[in-house]
Amino acid sequence: MSDRIRTLFNRIAPVYDQLNTLLSLGQHRIWKQMAVKWSGATVGSTCLDVCCGSGDLALLLAERVGLTGQVIGLDFATAQLAIAQQRAQERYPIPSITWLEGDALELPFPNNHFDAATMGYGLRNVTDIPRSLKELHRVLKPSAKAAILDFHRPSNAQIRTLQQWYLDAIVVPAAQQFGLTEEYAYIAPSLDRFPTGTEQIALARQAGFATATHYPIAGGTMGVLVVSK
Ligand SMILES: C[S@@+](CC[C@H](N)C(=O)[O-])C[C@H]1O[C@@H](n2cnc3c(N)ncnc32)[C@H](O)[C@@H]1O
Repeated sequence: MSDRIRTLFNRIAPVYDQLNTLLSLGQHRIWKQMAVKWSGATVGSTCLDVCCGSGDLALLLAERVGLTGQVIGLDFATAQLAIAQQRAQERYPIPSITWLEGDALELPFPNNHFDAATMGYGLRNVTDIPRSLKELHRVLKPSAKAAILDFHRPSNAQIRTLQQWYLDAIVVPAAQQFGLTEEYAYIAPSLDRFPTGTEQIALARQAGFATATHYPIAGGTMGVLVVSK
């Protein structure tokens, strides 16, 4: 299962950013900025972006923590990391981000290490959500926060129908233009399996987080789970 997900993200890497921007009409950048803000990262923080993909959140974290801070972007898809690295190199000054190939289910860091963490569209893709949350909890310092952004099935039936229509009628055909129909058709079923905001809160508490709040955004079609250790 993990291998299939890794292969999928390696394959879509060359068009991933372009499609995200197109399909969200640029909105994903705003949602990512919100996640970075809610992670509590500040100047000088040591931060982790789990499932960093092509690096959007890690790059935003780096802007926030400045030259005295540290950011690690971790993902298991080599092709995504290569794009993240290239994007960072094109910035001036080059942000100090360490790109690391690794597994969100077995984070290669000591306990109580990070001041803040983000995860964008990663939790829905890991094969073991409780374990991923436990790992995140383990590597955060006491009282540190993580902000976890992902799709969400809205509770409002009409918006739900609209979201499904958007995925079927816009997202999949757009991906088809890039020869990636199957790769984007996976979003709807993955969203059906994904815990609701309330369920995410319960899972976060079970993982050991002292507080957990789920903020619905974009009419509830997206959400940010903010947890603190
Ligand atoms: C939808 S992308 C999100 C990328 C980026 N965070 C963003 O918001 O644009 C999901 C990423 O999660 C990564 N991923 C999924 N499961 C993982 C795991 N167990 N360990 C590390 N990375 C994983 C994939 O390789 C992919 O790059």
